[in-house]
Amino acid sequence: MKPVRVGLLGLGTVGGGTLNVIVRNATEIARRAGREIVVTHAAAREFRAETIEGLDRVVLSEDAFTVVDNPDIDVVVELIGGYSPARELVLRAIENGKHVVTANKALIAMHGNEIFAAAQAKGVTVAFEAAVAGGIPIIKAVREGLAANHIEWIAGIINGTGNFILTEMRDKGRDFAEVLSEAQALGYAEADPTFDVEGIDAAHKLTILASLAFGIPLQFDRCYTEGIGRIQPQDVTYAEAFGYRIKHLGITRRTPSGVELRVHPTLIPERRLIANVDGVMNAVLVYGDAVGPTLYYGAGAGSLPTASAVVADIIDVTRTLTTDPENRVPHLAFQPGELSDLAVLPMDEVVTAYYLRMTVHDRPGVLAAVAGILSEHGISIEAMRQKEPAAGENQVPLVMLTQSVRESQMNAALGGIEALDAVAGEVTRIRVELLK
Ligand code: HSE
Repeated sequence: MKPVRVGLLGLGTVGGGTLNVIVRNATEIARRAGREIVVTHAAAREFRAETIEGLDRVVLSEDAFTVVDNPDIDVVVELIGGYSPARELVLRAIENGKHVVTANKALIAMHGNEIFAAAQAKGVTVAFEAAVAGGIPIIKAVREGLAANHIEWIAGIINGTGNFILTEMRDKGRDFAEVLSEAQALGYAEADPTFDVEGIDAAHKLTILASLAFGIPLQFDRCYTEGIGRIQPQDVTYAEAFGYRIKHLGITRRTPSGVELRVHPTLIPERRLIANVDGVMNAVLVYGDAVGPTLYYGAGAGSLPTASAVVADIIDVTRTLTTDPENRVPHLAFQPGELSDLAVLPMDEVVTAYYLRMTVHDRPGVLAAVAGILSEHGISIEAMRQKEPAAGENQVPLVMLTQSVRESQMNAALGGIEALDAVAGEVTRIRVELLK
């Protein structure tokens, strides 16, 4: 059988890794796919040729549209990233009847509904395993491995850069900016690293996971997003004193009134396996009604781990070339006509427990005033710590854990607490999840 011909768009961290894996494991890949897989063309403006194997056998171009329009190419692999021109390139590839593999989570989260509709109409596949959690085959697990389940919730550490920063800060006391620079040098961070630290990259990935888990259209614009920039070393220390770790989690949960879709720093019990996922590693915890909790762990970013997912998709696409389009696994796990209109809940309606830290004047009645406001809003205190003031200081940190409460009630209570004379500045609040 003739080899499958691949056109690569982008030869950066992931594109270079993809070519390396295809060349390095060519024989074994062909044994799995049933045909040889060969990268015949690639488009890139800048690349480090000395790090990429097999470039001498690839026709190179600076114009990605020439690859997409080339009639000799069977599968287009989009590894440029970003919204545009990735969207135009992918839509043109589909229009030209080519299958597409992409690692582009921003593209799928933002334009996936349009892209999958176009692919469906044309009878081609758009595969995106590498878009979520790097090398972990989480798309396949949720879409196929757990297909028997009513999935109830997913919680994941799905940004390697953010987890790397939090781990280095906690374990080595390193400075945020310095660790971020290292993550950039290692090829973990996005072209715009604010996507990593503000949680936007994780929100892209969570949007995709929620769609696959609950059979809802992709709704990135409804995802609540909060970054890691405001976490202080003292919050890490207090969390540990209460038996928790702080992780930047993406959480999506099915509730009777809608789907929660949120990315934010979260206290989780330190005894949970996922609380011990450090560095660039990612982990995704999925709760299905039949299987219970399952946990998927691996490298969430980096050249070869991400290439592992890209190449697995190319193999998958190769295997389905002879399958009728209607007999392929649906892009978003559910048949396209069977997506549900379950609403995404506004953040105000989400119910969670909280960690609160505030700076208060050390005088009688302050604790009672704070507790009184929480109680007026129906919020129970679960645990509390107050330090002795340092010599010459009359302000002290007051730290507490609350029981679960609706976000809108907590917002109202915090407004009242911050208005107290005895409370200095803003209250730091971090949501708490038990993940069970
Ligand atoms: N910037 C992303 C991360 C790359 O750090 O997780 C993988 O999607």
